[in-house]
Amino acid sequence: MSEELRSPSTEQGTPAARTPIIEARGIVKRFGGAVAVDDVSIAVEPGEIHGLVGENGAGKSTLMRVLAGVLAPNDGSVWVDGHQLDPGNTREALDAGVSLVHQELSLVPEMTVAENILLGSTPTRAGFIDARRQRQVAAEALEEIGVTVDLDEPIARLSVALRQFVEIARAIARKPRVLILDEPTATLTPAETEYLLDMLKRLASRGLAILYISHRIPEIFAICDRVTVLRDGSLVTSEGIGDLTPQSVVEHMVGRDLQLDLESRRLNPDIGEPVLSARGVKAPGVNDIDLDVRAGEIVGLGGLVGAGRTELVRAMIGADPRSGGEMTITLGGTPRRITGYRAAIAAGTAYIPEERRSDGLALTMTVVDNIALPNRSALSRSFVLQRRRIAEFATALAEAVNLRPPEIEREVGQYSGGNQQKVVLAKWLGRKPDVIVLDEPTRGVDVGAKVEIHRLIRELADEGAAVLVVSSDLPELLELSDTIHVVRDGRIVGVLPGAEADETAVMALASGQQEVDVA
Ligand SMILES: Nc1ncnc2c1ncn2[C@@H]1O[C@H](COP(=O)(O)OP(=O)(O)OP(=O)(O)O)[C@@H](O)[C@H]1O
Ligand SMILES: [Mg+2]
Repeated sequence: MSEELRSPSTEQGTPAARTPIIEARGIVKRFGGAVAVDDVSIAVEPGEIHGLVGENGAGKSTLMRVLAGVLAPNDGSVWVDGHQLDPGNTREALDAGVSLVHQELSLVPEMTVAENILLGSTPTRAGFIDARRQRQVAAEALEEIGVTVDLDEPIARLSVALRQFVEIARAIARKPRVLILDEPTATLTPAETEYLLDMLKRLASRGLAILYISHRIPEIFAICDRVTVLRDGSLVTSEGIGDLTPQSVVEHMVGRDLQLDLESRRLNPDIGEPVLSARGVKAPGVNDIDLDVRAGEIVGLGGLVGAGRTELVRAMIGADPRSGGEMTITLGGTPRRITGYRAAIAAGTAYIPEERRSDGLALTMTVVDNIALPNRSALSRSFVLQRRRIAEFATALAEAVNLRPPEIEREVGQYSGGNQQKVVLAKWLGRKPDVIVLDEPTRGVDVGAKVEIHRLIRELADEGAAVLVVSSDLPELLELSDTIHVVRDGRIVGVLPGAEADETAVMALASGQQEVDVA
């Protein structure tokens, strides 16, 4: 992130002289016996952007849900403008001006942009929905954040990035005084992220108080005036941005010295013959793709969100139908044609999808059952032994991905967003797959766990697996990939050896500023 983005806006006034708009005092939130938030106090002033960071499961989303009245705390109080809010009363929090943009998108796909923006606060006239007013309010909210999108477009037809902006427009339409954003940039490209950050600075300069959750430390330093760090539910520190460094923030988060080994690209990978081969693969949004992933190789697919990378990998492994082309998986010298998803899985493929909540997990099942799902045949045949082995196996995997808390009998739906992602990974890594396809493997995952997940992916490749990774996180793509294929408009527009790739080269190809002949 560039230097000029790093200027916090504290010089606008003397913060000490202002009174906070929102204040939480001594918040305690327990789930069963576990304490998710432990006596945390936080205050945000008008015009302030307040960063909230911490590892997966630290309690960030829970604290924000308490502030927005979605959850009632077990102890403590929330105050807006000196008035105490009724605990767990969403309506009152909204009326007081507290708007929360959730970590997981919450729009209704079948409804239009305008309908979604007004969801829950639809204007009525004499008991009828006032459609004209609805459109006007929606249009104003979109204009305020500077996003152009057709009001009548169903959400299902929008890109993930646009959905995120509609979600923000929805929060803005409620004319908030406190805007809470829970990892809003997880699905955005660098350019979209920069746009969002600028937008937030603009909103703050008009007096809005903003609470901002992110795992991306550079973003925190780009826009925040103050940062609060949570660890295991407790407040570790709350300091002005000037008193912190990226390194010190990470240390506060993890409570130890973390070696962020940024130069951990594999130096001399032992790369063998092609394992996963696509020839002329066609599908909606996928144009005639040739691609090889060799044994022991990590191939990264770069490109902008919406470039067609997810569509490409899904068509390759048969998760979506192909309209043309062929896929083969060659193991031990024997090529096998892959006609559909079942065949791909049977041939030793693991696929970790982008949409973890809908595709990757059974949220009402326990961690151990989720992990056991694709692994049954790999485990023992005797039932008694099997139960115990599965538990041991799941415990080992939970440890490998640093699941927090490491309770394998807990329902997956009760885990924090980042920890759910770790369960998806554990579920597939346990198979020791020969081919592994990962779509945004560390989205929403904290810095420490990210290092762990990268290590696991490299280990699989070291053991000879063919690895295909889609990532919009450029540093991740550069760090992991032995070879980077850049996708634009459903085509591969450039192939870069990992060692020669850098952010500029990938972005130039991804955005179409440069085209390399790959024929
Ligand atoms: N509905 C629930 N039932 C039981 N436990 C829960 C529930 N919601 C959250 N928790 C637990 O509370 C703790 C804090 O979770 P929270 O979602 O606030 O973390 P987070 O800091 O937002 O993490 P992430 O970065 O992964 O989003 C975790 O241990 C989580 O498992
Ligand atoms: Mg969260």
